[in-house]
Amino acid sequence: MNEKEAKKQIQKLREEINYHNTKYYVENNPIISDYEYDMLLKKLETLEAQFPDLVTADSPTQRVGGEPLKGFRTVEHKRPMLSLDNAYSFDELREYDERIKKNCRDVEYICEPKIDGVSIALIYENGIFVRGATRGDGSKGDDITTNLRTIRSIPLRLQGSSLKNAEIRGEVYFPISVFQRFNKEQEKKGEQVFANPRNAAAGSLRQLDPRIVALRPLDTFLYYVSHSDIDFETHEKSLELLRTAGFRVNPLIEKVSNIDEAISYCKNLETKREALDYEIDGVVLKVNLIAQQNQLGSTIKHPRWAIAFKFTAKQATTQLKDIVIQVGRTGTLTPVAILEPAQVGGVTVSRATLHNFDELKRKDIRIGDVVLVERSGDVIPQVVKSIAEKRRGDEKIRVIPRKCPVCGSDVIRTLDEVAVRCPNQQCPARLKWRLEYFASRDAMDIDHLGGQTIDKLIEKGLVDTIADLYELTEKDLLTLEGFKEKSVKNLLESIEKSKQQGLARLIYGLGIRHVGKYAAQLLASHCCSIDELARKSAEELMQIHGLGEKTAESIATFFATQENIELIKRLKDIGMRTKEIKKEGSLSGKKFVFTGALPSLSRPDASGLVMKNGGIVSSSIGKDIDFVVVGTDPGSKYQKAKKLELTIIDENEFKKLVGVL
Ligand code: IVH
Repeated sequence: MNEKEAKKQIQKLREEINYHNTKYYVENNPIISDYEYDMLLKKLETLEAQFPDLVTADSPTQRVGGEPLKGFRTVEHKRPMLSLDNAYSFDELREYDERIKKNCRDVEYICEPKIDGVSIALIYENGIFVRGATRGDGSKGDDITTNLRTIRSIPLRLQGSSLKNAEIRGEVYFPISVFQRFNKEQEKKGEQVFANPRNAAAGSLRQLDPRIVALRPLDTFLYYVSHSDIDFETHEKSLELLRTAGFRVNPLIEKVSNIDEAISYCKNLETKREALDYEIDGVVLKVNLIAQQNQLGSTIKHPRWAIAFKFTAKQATTQLKDIVIQVGRTGTLTPVAILEPAQVGGVTVSRATLHNFDELKRKDIRIGDVVLVERSGDVIPQVVKSIAEKRRGDEKIRVIPRKCPVCGSDVIRTLDEVAVRCPNQQCPARLKWRLEYFASRDAMDIDHLGGQTIDKLIEKGLVDTIADLYELTEKDLLTLEGFKEKSVKNLLESIEKSKQQGLARLIYGLGIRHVGKYAAQLLASHCCSIDELARKSAEELMQIHGLGEKTAESIATFFATQENIELIKRLKDIGMRTKEIKKEGSLSGKKFVFTGALPSLSRPDASGLVMKNGGIVSSSIGKDIDFVVVGTDPGSKYQKAKKLELTIIDENEFKKLVGVL
């Protein structure tokens, strides 16, 4: 092939790839398979390797390039990146509207979610992405071009012909759905954990090695053309153009024609807040007509044509009264902050996690400090930082204990782990967790067996293992403080009843590391009995679709341990149901995947219905899946299912299938 022909082909391939890139990363609506996309990219890479002179910076092959940087260059913004004035109540919003109406008639507003991420400015010259920067102090920011290039929803070349030269502003965010898992991985690797998705986004963009950034699931929303060679009549039109140029523009943006409608929008959006996969901290109201925007102008700090309505904060400062050590189900020692109770986003918080001792040291959090507490991207509140300026000098540092605070065993810390552990399998703390977990609602669901009762049973030496629960007698229980005939009877009855809970709940209740509810259901639908499960090797377990290597190994290790072998034997001896009678139901062998929340069924109930009918619940999408049941806010599984053209059904159809409708 000559160079001319190659140039033509390269051009065509790039256009095609860019088009599919937008379909996938911006519109969330791919029309070709990942494989086909990869093939196009490979073809382009091969051609570019043959004709290296034809490689240009905007080629889709050039997203991750170059060596790590030594530092970021500072760049001056052509126009300052202003912040927004805030309104904390609807009254303040109405006052703002009154001020606007003094200057402008027939005002329309565009209402936008206020994305809680990291603001960025992107510069395009001749349709090509040439530079991207952080906000910095508003007039100067860091040049983070190489990092931004790795984000797939940022087009390296603008689509369509109209927009060529422009500066576009928006926000980079870290999706909430992957944030917790990411933090866990960071913790395991001994690397920094982030207090919230925004910090994770900021921390990722500060990375000097773009190859690391490329592995982070960063995404964007763009919301403002700060200058360009096009004159827009309205903000709405500029957003439309951003969409056609290939940017991701938030789908919840709406136009309203008065302040009442704007207030309804705010109320409505706040109810959706928890369901979104990105954090928002309010609503931005923008005057729609650009002529009116120009008339209103800006102060040195913020534009007068926009205002941010802030939702209730999910952060608060309070005093850290103590740091206690909690010993977890697997023996991990976790420092926990005991706080002066504080309101955080409408919830009273008096405890917060400090993750681990490395974090505690890195953040230099001391007993007596005033600390910033946050609930975000995670249900467990956490201590973000201490306010060092408020120190009086008598704050105390909490060091890593040498001994388990519960049983006194010497703690262990392996070199490759951040975790500090109590090695004693019989440690009462671990036993307590194990029993609580076993009795919990999603496991064996044993009524009347709460934390306090378990404490008493352990204290009296009545239980050392799960199996001991089933050998408790009336006489034993009457020795417990506060227990009378009636409460003893109730407890014994619930324990007896739990023997019939079935295989999935039993597997879950055993508390095998990495085996959550869904893995337990998956295992129960593949193996007919606990013995069959116990016999499987890690390799055999890995054949079960949807089960990872770590989980498989953990299960095999569990059943190879002597004390667990004995435990299972005893459970069988006391009459525990450890076999699943497979019904040759209508759905025999059919595989189901659930994604999104179902309107009326909980996941365990829905999975139970599948298994009852002889079906199998799987956690990942593949060609072998027979039904994908989709609820509200489905995840990427839904996209994948569509791509594979699987049978997708809603809750009603599902109910009909399993015979409950
Ligand atoms: S418009 C000149 N729109 O909020 C107007 N900002 O507190 C530029 N933000 O620095 C801002 N979502 O980082 C605008 N839909 C949105 C936004 C938004 C989030 C951020 C932005 C800004 C900060 C001001």
